[in-house]
Formats: sequence, structure tokens, C-alpha cells
Amino acid sequence: AGLDTAAAAIGKLYFGTATDNPELTDTAYVSQLNNTADFGQITPGNSQKWDATEPSQNTFTFANGDTIAKLAEANGQKLRCHNLVWHNQLPSWVTSGTWTNATLVAALKNHITNVVTHYKGQCYAWDVVNEALNEDGTYRTSIWYETIGEAYIPIAFATAAAADPNVKLYYNDYNIEYSGSKATGAANIVKLIQSYGVKVDGVGLQSHFIVGSTPSQSNQASTMASYTALGVEVAITELDIRMTLPSTDALLAQQSTDYSSTVGACVETKGCVGITIWDWTDKYSWVPSTFSGQGAACPWDANFVKKPAYTGILTAL
Ligand code: XIL
Repeated sequence: AGLDTAAAAIGKLYFGTATDNPELTDTAYVSQLNNTADFGQITPGNSQKWDATEPSQNTFTFANGDTIAKLAEANGQKLRCHNLVWHNQLPSWVTSGTWTNATLVAALKNHITNVVTHYKGQCYAWDVVNEALNEDGTYRTSIWYETIGEAYIPIAFATAAAADPNVKLYYNDYNIEYSGSKATGAANIVKLIQSYGVKVDGVGLQSHFIVGSTPSQSNQASTMASYTALGVEVAITELDIRMTLPSTDALLAQQSTDYSSTVGACVETKGCVGITIWDWTDKYSWVPSTFSGQGAACPWDANFVKKPAYTGILTAL
């Protein structure tokens, strides 16, 4: 059995991975990505972000996102669409524009309406708002929050819901996988959207973890339950578990345990619908370029060979 085969056998789960356009020229990579026994779902790592889809105002470019959407369709894989509103990977016309509340709301709505309409019927879910919170659970400073206030969040969800009533709408963030102020902040965002009478369907747990300090399975499961108690589903959306390099047998064994407990938390939680790893091979992981001295975060190594983490995941499914 592969990872998605095992996940599907549980009856409620998909297993998938992020991918990205530059990697699709690597034929060994693509043949493994196309293995639907392991991957029943894919997420574009970059090509649906704002800088990729609306590089200048009201000019939309969907070619790279479409390549990944078509790959998912050809393979019969679910597509998680990522993302509509974030403080990163914004084009300069957004970050350097002169905005009022009214003009920025109009630009936000225009972006969401165009992108969601373009991908209508192709996405299982959209990450509508990504990473709106600081570590202490307060709102992050961004062009969105500074100009519009917290209402940008329900406005974004309402606009997405109007463009595609059938796609699941998620709030997605990191460090909200375990109890604490930031998890409370994420629950409060769900309640905020609901208080506006607007649809919110899920909380996405990015789950960018560290070998040996991954939150316990019980803490992850109880935190998932704190979201599902609000009437939304949850998904693990960007799982990877990094280590300080070089990789050792002991670190790889601990990594396997950490993958297992994380996947186990989703399996045991009613309302956890699936797990996505943030690329499956160390060859293309975002980790080394973002976290200096760290890496080896994926279940397959840079030569596409399965690491102990693969078995750790499989045994939890
Ligand atoms: C990352 C991509 O993987 C990189 O290629 C890119 O350079 C930066 O963004 N949280 C998210 C993802 O929601 O969109 C980020 O993806 C990783 C952190």
C-alpha cells in the first residue's frame, strides 16, 4: 500500500503533497508525483499566490497554476488551492500602492473573484487567508490589517464563497497545531468569520515542525478538536519536520516518530480530512533556503529514496 491508499482505506482521509512548476521538468520527480498510491492530492507551492496570479493590477496570469491543476485532473488527484490573501509573495503594486480602505477592499475582492472563478470546480479547498496571526495570537501587521482592519478576513471569505459556493474555505496558519495563544487566535478567527454570517469550512494546520520538538499527538489531537468543536473541519496542509544538518540515524528515527504522531493525531480526530506534506523529497524542500543549517525535512531523501519517516507515516495510517 502507498500513503494515499492507506489513508483512503481509513475511509475519510486523503494523503498528498505540495509540488511546484520548476520541479516538473525533472522526469524522475514527476513519475513519483504521479504515483497516486502515495499521493491522492496535490497543492501548488507557489503558482496560485498573488504575485503569480495578478502580477500587475487586474492582469491575471494562470498558466503555471493551470499546469498543476491539469496534472491533478489527469492523475485523478484532489487539488488544494493555495492561497488568496497573505502578507508574503505580494506584487509591488499591492505592497507599494497608495490605498484607502475602499480601494484596497475593491482590489481584494477583484483578486479573489477572478482567481476563485478561474479555478471554480477544480479545487477541493481554498486557503482563503494565510498566516494572519502573530505568535501571541494578535493580528499580524500587514497591508490588509493596517488598511482594512480585521474585517478583511470575513470580506475575503464572503467574496470567495460568492465566486464558488462549493469549494471549502480554509483559514491556514503555522504554530496553531498545539494549544496556546496562537491556537486561540485561530479559533477566534473562525468565530469572527461566523459572527459575520459568512461561510468558513476549515482550519489548515501547516505543521512545519522540528525533529524532537514536534508537539505530542495528544496535544495536536486536542487542538484539532478545539477547531472542529466550532463546526469546521481541519487538515494538515504543509507538513514537514526539519532537523539541524547533518542528518544522522538517530535524527531520522526521531523524525519517523514525529511524522507518525502527527499523522496519528489526524487519524484519531473526527473532522480531520487529510494530510499534505510540503513536498515529498528533500531535493525540492523549501526548508534549507529558509532555515539556515536545517533540512532533510521530507519523507524521501534528495535521491527519491524513502526515509524511515515513510514507514512512520504508513504505520500511523
Ligand atoms: C513557500 C514555498 O514552498 C517556497 O518555494 C517559496 O519560496 C516561499 O513559500 N507557508 C506557506 C507556504 O503557506 O506558501 C510557503 O511556501 C511555506 C510556508
